[in-house]
Amino acid sequence: MAKLRPHPDIAEVLITEPRIHQRIATLARDIGRCYDGEEVTIITVLNGSIVFLGELLHRLPMPTRLDSIVARSYGASTTSSGRVRTRRPWQLPLKGQHVLLVDDILDTGRTLKLIRDRIRRERPASVRTCVLLDKPTRREVDIHADFTGFEIPDKFVVGYGLDFAERYRNLPYIAVLKPEIYRSRGTE
Ligand code: IMP
Ligand code: MG
Repeated sequence: MAKLRPHPDIAEVLITEPRIHQRIATLARDIGRCYDGEEVTIITVLNGSIVFLGELLHRLPMPTRLDSIVARSYGASTTSSGRVRTRRPWQLPLKGQHVLLVDDILDTGRTLKLIRDRIRRERPASVRTCVLLDKPTRREVDIHADFTGFEIPDKFVVGYGLDFAERYRNLPYIAVLKPEIYRSRGTE
């Protein structure tokens, strides 16, 4: 079979699909061990987590409930606006529940911290966080994820659910775009 070429807008593939799948399988086992059969309410942060969550969810061994919240801080740019806006918050009651907050990437940390603190106000039994990617050098607020797929350098990445101006979420790998793409679409 011919080897698939990366998308023409891609400069570099950072993490391939087989590596992502392998890592998610391990994460699912670690999460399963942590909760030991107890029911977990997953709150996933849309839209970026959609592909990661799909791959993770069907591998989790414990009973789950699923809900979500929509958050955005980037718009059509590669740097966070610093202001996190959320919409459509979860509907499930969280009091007394074990909550696992799932997002695509931990960058400045503002999104995850804001949502985690909001969850805590509902007095759940526990709150843990799980991200596919972590850019530790970019952190602006004090938060670390309990479960992390990969640590990556300070580069704006797309694919596997992550977007630039809502594009590229369907790429099956994590990649860096060519600089001219960021330049030409950065103000859309
Ligand atoms: P934070 O609030 O700065 O931690 O940003 C978290 C959100 O910003 C993530 O949920 C992503 O949607 C988005 N984000 C941060 N870094 C990247 C990136 O490299 N590519 C695409 N989206 C990103
Ligand atoms: Mg996001």
